[in-house]
Amino acid sequence: MIPQKTVQEILETAKIEEVVQDYVNLKRRGSNMIGLCPFHNEKTPSFTVSPTKNLFKCFGCGKGGDPARFIMEHEHLGFPDALKQLAGKYRIEIEEKEMTPEFAAEQQERESLFIVNEFAKTFYQDQLLNTDIGKSVGLSYFKERGFREETIKKFGLGFAPNQRGEFTTKATQMGYKPEYLEKLGLTKNGRDFFWNRVMFTIHNLSGKPIAFAGRILQKDVKAPKYINSPETDIYSKSKILYGAYFAKRDIRKQDECILVEGYTDVISLHQAGIENVVASSGTSLTEGQILLIKRFTPNIKILYDGDAAGIKAALRGLDLVLEKDMNVKVVLLPDGEDPDSYLQNAGATAFKEYIDQQAKDFILFKTDLLLSEVGNDPVKRAGLVRDIVDSIARVPDPFKRAFYVKECARVMELEEEVLISETNKVVKKILQKREFDRNRKRGPQVNIVPEGSPTDGGKSKVEIVPPIESPNKEMGRDEFQERDIARLLIAFGGEIFDEEEEITVAEYILSNIEEVLDDFDNKEYQDIVKKCLDRVVSKQTLSAQYFIGHTDHTLSALSIDLLHSPYEYSDGWGERELYLHSQKMPEENFSKDSTSALMRFKLKKIIRLCEKNQQQLVDLKAENDSNKIMRLLKVQAKLNDLRNGLAKELGTVILK
Ligand code: CTP
Ligand code: MN
Repeated sequence: MIPQKTVQEILETAKIEEVVQDYVNLKRRGSNMIGLCPFHNEKTPSFTVSPTKNLFKCFGCGKGGDPARFIMEHEHLGFPDALKQLAGKYRIEIEEKEMTPEFAAEQQERESLFIVNEFAKTFYQDQLLNTDIGKSVGLSYFKERGFREETIKKFGLGFAPNQRGEFTTKATQMGYKPEYLEKLGLTKNGRDFFWNRVMFTIHNLSGKPIAFAGRILQKDVKAPKYINSPETDIYSKSKILYGAYFAKRDIRKQDECILVEGYTDVISLHQAGIENVVASSGTSLTEGQILLIKRFTPNIKILYDGDAAGIKAALRGLDLVLEKDMNVKVVLLPDGEDPDSYLQNAGATAFKEYIDQQAKDFILFKTDLLLSEVGNDPVKRAGLVRDIVDSIARVPDPFKRAFYVKECARVMELEEEVLISETNKVVKKILQKREFDRNRKRGPQVNIVPEGSPTDGGKSKVEIVPPIESPNKEMGRDEFQERDIARLLIAFGGEIFDEEEEITVAEYILSNIEEVLDDFDNKEYQDIVKKCLDRVVSKQTLSAQYFIGHTDHTLSALSIDLLHSPYEYSDGWGERELYLHSQKMPEENFSKDSTSALMRFKLKKIIRLCEKNQQQLVDLKAENDSNKIMRLLKVQAKLNDLRNGLAKELGTVILK
């Protein structure tokens, strides 16, 4: 039992934003902070933290509460254990009973496993630092590799002694249950599992030891270089990354995560002051690991060994990262080097310079690389196009796709149209497959209220989803963009777009499209937009209810239609343009939604003006009026600038 006084102290000390930030990357949003919810899979943040209220709340899945509740949910702990964890973080002492074997047996098994691992870590460390054999064999090995003593301690490096009984004997003497020792893989059939190896402790995100790896010291034996703890209740290989606990702070700070392959790479880089680094431990990235990184940053830089295997690895498995909407850069190290060796050879400054200069966007890197391989062989070239298109199509963000198509077409000396239509085909296939999977999973009906959300009272309401509309072929050319603007105004017009500047979504959108307000292709959408403008100008509030309940029945029906319309631009963009099918639901983030809708809208209008102008130029050529032609050419240049500026703006979004 924890004394009530201590409970109080813990609850008063723990700051929600500090607790949450150990797990989730938060960004300021006015007086609150937002991030990706760690309790459900989402692409745009709906997880909110209020430092002033000291509470978190997810509008996606409905979870919410104070710091203790967050730890309970996240670590699957009971209230007392969550408090203990918070107490540890804030160095608040809890008077507890002594650790006797009986007491250990009463604890939750999970908790016991941590305790046993903590013991093992200390044991191996002690062997390394305080025994003759440990010092002469283990410690000297680490020192030879350039690891300083403080690094060795920080990462919990250790040594497992030669005799295959020391650990198990000691642990049993101390009262640790053989059952737990076996379960954790520290003991196998009564004997030490790790022996005569240097030891690496693997920590979870809160810094607890969850597993170990032992590296062999002799070069010429057949035994594997590393042996690792088995999967347990507290160690799931596919969900952790080596070094994440030590790296998370810097990953957030640098807004980038460096990914390497090996334990020693992480330690070396960290020691050289590059702290935003984690290791996948020799395997290709899993979905769980990608999502783990994504909690802290969307930007990932992968360092590969500069040999053939490294290059192959660079191409493998990364499509999954693209699918998660992460920005991936790759760095190929000089031939024969891994990050650790190259850093030790070149020194920290040269190393940092190298990885900054050599970092290439993954898709462009892949294109370059494959291109250099295929030469002029037409069959191989076709294969290459398919390969590249397959990667591009996985990128969820349509603007990024547009950027890649452009760049790759240029590098491959292909017509952009060819690449666009190929990409669109694959995107369509992916979407169809996703739709199919979704229907198979849920049947034709869908929960529209997220499970467990406070409004659904525990029971999910089931409603029939409106069928996906087929796009109206009669629609004017810009109507999809106009319709989207109207939809946003109705759905979110009254929401705050930017708390600092205190403007609403409607104010933001309307101030940006004023010049073209009379220039809509679709008069109904224009009417909605103008009605919004009237209300904004006369300082009246805007809400979906205003439109839905409007006495003008056409308007009210149209509003309902717009609010229920699927979030789809695709076919409105015609064959030539890139499939703009966002995989996000607009409700998830109306600010981002407004910004991109606006960009699409503007780009569309500018492209249109460009074309108009060009047509005029063509018409004028016949007249041979050089003055007029000059003037139009100037206009044309201006429009091109505008268009390129917008494209660049999208480009920065892309390249960031
Ligand atoms: N690995 C493993 N088991 C093995 C070999 C490798 O689990 N038998 C994992 C380890 O996580 C290792 C990573 O793959 O760190 C990369 O392997 P490698 O490059 O061979 O090891 P390094 O970490 O570079 O070790 P060292 O520098 O000591 O050779
Ligand atoms: Mn190495």
